[in-house]
Amino acid sequence: MIAGMALKEDVRTFWNRASCGEELYLPSQEAAGFDEHRRKRYELEPYIPGFARFDDTRGKKVLEIGVGLGADHEGFAAAGADLHGVDLTDRAIEMTTRRLAHKGLKSTLRVGDAEHLPFGDGEFDVVYSWGVIHHSPDTPAAVREIHRVLKPGGEARVMIYHTWSLVGMMLWARYGLLRGKPGTSMAQIYASHLESPGTKAYTPTEARGLFRDFSHVETSVVLSQGDLLEGGAGQRHRGPLLSTAKAIFPRWLVRRAAPGLGLFLLITARK
Ligand SMILES: C[S@@+](CC[C@H](N)C(=O)[O-])C[C@H]1O[C@@H](n2cnc3c(N)ncnc32)[C@H](O)[C@@H]1O
Repeated sequence: MIAGMALKEDVRTFWNRASCGEELYLPSQEAAGFDEHRRKRYELEPYIPGFARFDDTRGKKVLEIGVGLGADHEGFAAAGADLHGVDLTDRAIEMTTRRLAHKGLKSTLRVGDAEHLPFGDGEFDVVYSWGVIHHSPDTPAAVREIHRVLKPGGEARVMIYHTWSLVGMMLWARYGLLRGKPGTSMAQIYASHLESPGTKAYTPTEARGLFRDFSHVETSVVLSQGDLLEGGAGQRHRGPLLSTAKAIFPRWLVRRAAPGLGLFLLITARK
């Protein structure tokens, strides 16, 4: 319990230093800066709108957990959802508030913890969360909370990290193999070398286990910009080795030969 609380403070500190994508893709906090961030996000991650299904949420009560810089939140707000958002950090709430204000869009935003959602039972038609609950120390508790706040028949749209990804394997080669520690587990690699401390990843079977209280669960894996060494490839990783790998990486071959080795595990689950 104490260890979990200390780890959550470390997670909060990490994301309060810079929200996800802020250093690489947010040129300013003016309207044009947020627009550029959104344009770049969907250029690099074109599958997000199809998964989030913004237009389907018009008039529905929607909760986003872990809003970050708020690009997807803007999509739900622009679609006309009755929108609520939480994030562990003040920074993300301030950024998303600023983004929506530039557009005259509305949401009820507050600092909040995925493991203890500040909402009653059965309030939401849709709960959306992209790349968030694997950072929280007690991910199963976050899934139980998503289930609790959904209405019967409501839908969770959640992305968590996938264990057998090219990102994970490249990090294992860099921080396990090249450091003479080939026995380093994938769990240790994700916890120590990808984003905030203690980050976890799951297989599709494990994801189904996490969402076992839901009546219908679908999973799929997609190659992320990190797997394809596109864009900035992560907040923590830079340097000549990465630049060389990016220059020679056979993206077309990877797309064809290894579509299942993506970092992003997409879960759609009905309560
Ligand atoms: C990788 S970023 C993703 C942000 C956004 N969804 C996106 O796709 O850009 C992870 C976000 O999750 C938030 N987060 C981490 N643990 C959380 C928790 N227990 N409850 C709510 N938000 C959390 C962080 O503060 C951070 O903003």
